[in-house]
Amino acid sequence: MSRLLWTLKLQERFFGRARWDPSQITDEWFRAHFEYAADVVQQWIGSALDVRTAHLLNFGCGDGITDLALVLRFGATAIHGVDIRREYAKLPRIAREQLGMQRIPSALSFETISPGAPLASRHQGIDGIMSWSTFEHVQRDQLLPILRDLYTCLRPGGVFFLQIEPLFYSPYGSHLRRYDDVPWHHLQVGEEALWQIVKNHEGPIDASEVDFGFADFGVDGYKRFVFKEYQALNRLNADELVDLVELAGFTVERQERRKVDLNPPPELLAQYPEELLRNNEVLLLLRKPQEQSMARSV
Ligand SMILES: C[S@@+](CC[C@H](N)C(=O)[O-])C[C@H]1O[C@@H](n2cnc3c(N)ncnc32)[C@H](O)[C@@H]1O
Repeated sequence: MSRLLWTLKLQERFFGRARWDPSQITDEWFRAHFEYAADVVQQWIGSALDVRTAHLLNFGCGDGITDLALVLRFGATAIHGVDIRREYAKLPRIAREQLGMQRIPSALSFETISPGAPLASRHQGIDGIMSWSTFEHVQRDQLLPILRDLYTCLRPGGVFFLQIEPLFYSPYGSHLRRYDDVPWHHLQVGEEALWQIVKNHEGPIDASEVDFGFADFGVDGYKRFVFKEYQALNRLNADELVDLVELAGFTVERQERRKVDLNPPPELLAQYPEELLRNNEVLLLLRKPQEQSMARSV
């Protein structure tokens, strides 16, 4: 147990859980994760286990706001967030600013990992894993090894809720909508033209799309960061994702593919299936079978 976690547990024991007040929320990014994302995670994972007693792992936890909400709003008692960045280090400040909360709950712990670094040697017997808008950012050749590793982390019968939005071939699958509102633009113009649009963008961007990293980067630095993220997207589609999770040994217990209500331009319909172009979100509830079947080899 880290020193910080130990201190938090001790403080909680003596003083109780720090008070929090959702009426103080002013930030739209915070609200989107504290309310909407946490609601969806709870609906999906909470349908398969009791978050109040489960040991949970959040793969690609980002700033940890959703984890905080699962603890405060739904009574989760053990969530470990892992990420290749350290945005979660901002959570105590964010919780103070947005909820008036003096310390984050000891039910939360976080860890920085290297991309693709195995977790199973340190995390075994996990009841539930969640991953929100993360798997589209994982390098392609690391997808299957990571899924197999997460499978090993779970106890037999454990569940994994995996969500991706926006999927690459959908109207805003570039993740650049903050700067470019033209649907499917990334499938129609080259990278240089897209970068010029991002670079030349002026004025405010949608507050619900501005994360807490924005202040670190500044206006131009954030543009460069977001564009690099676009270039690194693995362009995974929902069919490929389902094939990969099954290869890793999971059974798909429930899946939902959401579609946008927009008509793709004819020139794109000549190149890609309409289904692919309109499918912007995939939500999967996966289970590790009780009887451990051998994961299929590639
Ligand atoms: C769009 S953010 C989503 C973060 C968080 N789930 C949320 O909803 O705010 C994608 C996250 O995936 C993380 N990520 C990307 N590749 C990863 C990898 N190989 N292993 C773990 N996390 C990864 C990024 O650092 C980033 O925090």
